[in-house]
Amino acid sequence: MVFQDEGQRSPPDRLIGCLTYQSRAARAPSEDELDSLVSRARRRNNQHGVTGMLLYEDGRYLQTLEGPPTGLDTIWSSIRRDERHQEIEVLSQHLVSARLFSDWDLLLYRKAEQAPTTLLERLRRKHPLSQHVPTVAKLALNADEPKLNDLFAQLAEKGWTGDDMARDLLEPTARAMGDAWLADECSEFDLTLGLGMLQMAGHAVRYSKGPDELRGNQYTILLASAPGEPHMFGPSLLADQFTDAGWAVEMAFPSSDEALTNQLHEQQPDALDIALSDALPRDSKVAQLRATVRQSRWSMPEQPLVVSVGGRLFAEAAATAEHVGADHARRSLAGTRLSLRELVENARRGREETDG
Ligand SMILES: Cc1cc2nc3c(=O)[nH]c(=O)nc-3n(C[C@H](O)[C@H](O)[C@H](O)COP(=O)(O)O)c2cc1C
Repeated sequence: MVFQDEGQRSPPDRLIGCLTYQSRAARAPSEDELDSLVSRARRRNNQHGVTGMLLYEDGRYLQTLEGPPTGLDTIWSSIRRDERHQEIEVLSQHLVSARLFSDWDLLLYRKAEQAPTTLLERLRRKHPLSQHVPTVAKLALNADEPKLNDLFAQLAEKGWTGDDMARDLLEPTARAMGDAWLADECSEFDLTLGLGMLQMAGHAVRYSKGPDELRGNQYTILLASAPGEPHMFGPSLLADQFTDAGWAVEMAFPSSDEALTNQLHEQQPDALDIALSDALPRDSKVAQLRATVRQSRWSMPEQPLVVSVGGRLFAEAAATAEHVGADHARRSLAGTRLSLRELVENARRGREETDG
């Protein structure tokens, strides 16, 4: 037990345990062994609300793990017993209020990645799923639904998780299709249809059940496209993730701020996510989105609303949550649920403290 020593009071829920250690590999792992270790670890970390990174270089591991103290303790006791490494030395162990790796069940760095040769090579090494981006973009733009479904079914069978696919295949493909449109290689019609195809293929991907559901906590979220935004790829994939984790999900595709605020007023959710296109940068929409966020908050004066924003603009860090007055900006669809759950829990606690 690391964060829950007997005789010591459990830390408040809102704090996240963070542990960093280094160790020596008992034997240098092959690429495949390391990939397999990480893909299993990601699945298990996800189930326990743990995020982090693992670095492997020249026979040594360095790992940072962060998450709720109970989940972290479970994972850490397995890792400590693992005979694939030895000379385990804890470098730091503390409680923090926010995660560093909220988008990553486990981010893997290897030395080989530091000297990539070409862009394609870099993409491939970054994540094995990235090599499928051109094929998926082509199939989606050609509206070849059967082949797309086959490919996703094969990848799921190989053990890729919903978060892996969202972050390393679906979202990069949406951006690649947006680039094709910007370069006049396809029409707006093709792009919108292609995103719809990608969205349908993405529904086949399921997300592991998170601790939200295990706790029996019902959080509610309204997933909205920004008023007037025709691309609904992001909200639609988020709906799968949040529903799988036991949240109550409502969707909105409003034509105006007024339509959105009416729906908010009626539903009073804990959180609202407003999505711009995942394919196109939409740089000109910042001021408008800022106004939408402000109006959304005004429509629920009785209850603090956690507001998240997403889309290519935020994935590429061309704008931040601060620019539009939101509480959170999605860098990826993966990991959003964990970050929002923490923000909602903090908001609820803040309200209880004020009421009490
Ligand atoms: C360097 C290293 C890092 C690991 N990191 C994780 C991790 O982040 N999450 C995880 O679930 N397992 C990780 N594992 C694997 C665990 O040690 C363990 O094999 C796995 O969780 C299965 O647990 P069990 O043996 O208790 O069933 C790691 C193993 C090594 C050698």
